[in-house]
Amino acid sequence: MTLTEDAPARLTGFPLVDEDPEHHSFRVHRSSMVSPEIFEQERRRIFDRCWLYIGHESEVSKPGDFVRRSVGGRALFMVRAAKSGQVKVFHNSCTHRGAMICRQASGNSKTFPCFYHHWSFDSEGDLKGVPDRAGYGDNLDFSKLGLKSPKVQSYRGFVFVSYDPDIVDLVTYLAGAREYLDLVIDSADGEMEIVRGTNEYCMDANWKLLCENSIDGYHAVSVHDTYFKYLVALGTDLKGGVKGTARDLGNGHAVLEYSAPWGRPIAKWEPLFGEHAKEEILALRADLVAKHGEERASRMADTNRNMLIYPNLVVNDIMAVTVRTFMPLSPGRMDITAWEMAPRGELPQLRQRRLDSFLTFLGPAGFATPDDVEALESCQQGFNSGGVEWNDISRGMARTPEGNDEHQMRVFWRRWADQMGEAAYGRVEGR
Ligand code: FES
Ligand SMILES: [Fe+2]
Repeated sequence: MTLTEDAPARLTGFPLVDEDPEHHSFRVHRSSMVSPEIFEQERRRIFDRCWLYIGHESEVSKPGDFVRRSVGGRALFMVRAAKSGQVKVFHNSCTHRGAMICRQASGNSKTFPCFYHHWSFDSEGDLKGVPDRAGYGDNLDFSKLGLKSPKVQSYRGFVFVSYDPDIVDLVTYLAGAREYLDLVIDSADGEMEIVRGTNEYCMDANWKLLCENSIDGYHAVSVHDTYFKYLVALGTDLKGGVKGTARDLGNGHAVLEYSAPWGRPIAKWEPLFGEHAKEEILALRADLVAKHGEERASRMADTNRNMLIYPNLVVNDIMAVTVRTFMPLSPGRMDITAWEMAPRGELPQLRQRRLDSFLTFLGPAGFATPDDVEALESCQQGFNSGGVEWNDISRGMARTPEGNDEHQMRVFWRRWADQMGEAAYGRVEGR
């Protein structure tokens, strides 16, 4: 067999995702990680056909607030419209002759003038100003020249866009992931916000490696050894290890849920937070129990969740709540953006602790992220070495999957193969 070099246009050849339950084998062909043709097909079949996270409503809380984003390879910007109060998302392209309208990463503005010929739009996207209008005939309908939008829907503050006009509604798409978003949101009485400030970094690795890595329990002890030693040095008891399960949430979404020994600012105290914080955190916990009952409160406070919302949104509710999305730039490179989410109006000392946790483990220079970047870039370099055609993702196939198994990655890959359709087949040499 050979890697597929041209776009596979037919249902022949071998499946790139090769599942053989009888032999407890699940393999993924490495062309899926390196082939420019696969990458091109992913753009059309996945990124143009899913709900993709663009941002959180709290990032544009005041009329005229805007953020510029690249989503699924397309330039967009999200605005809090001044008249309607709605969160709008526009293609970042002037309806005159194409220039990008929004040229700043974020800000607040009443109008959005294009710098090229100065057509000017309001925050609802309507075209309001055209220099030297007399040059246009009376019959030209300027009302049709407003900014254009993809489909936009939000779920309790999480805003998604889709380029597929026929896509199912967002709640249907989220399937079982919805309950897990609820757990995060309800733990703050529905008042979650993105903390101002963004982590941005890139990696020389295929984007799907980060999908796998974000919900991979198997690598934690080997790759993040330094962090675990650091926690032990601070007095955290790690003897019980990390125990958990992985769940298929439908539509390619999956979660890894586990009780980890570290503290959680939402309501689980650990030595890392300091003695002085104990009382406050116990009070938060009592409040959660009063509102949600012991069982749900314990899930919110004690249980960690690494969730992948297919294809490229990660919500890690661990020692802090991280919202992370990543965009492929080429088969071997991606941009990653991460934000910290926190209860609105959180006490400053708790916010401080949360941000410390976020940066200490998940920040670009934290204990985890540089190690993960190294691991994923090393996989990509390994793929380029050739000689080995398949990745093995079989762990846990012969038992009820545990947290450190690979059930959650198989959930992702099945959906990937399903969406890729005939593009998820490789050519057999000689045909
Ligand atoms: S391209 Fe925007 S005004 Fe001409
Ligand atoms: Fe990791």
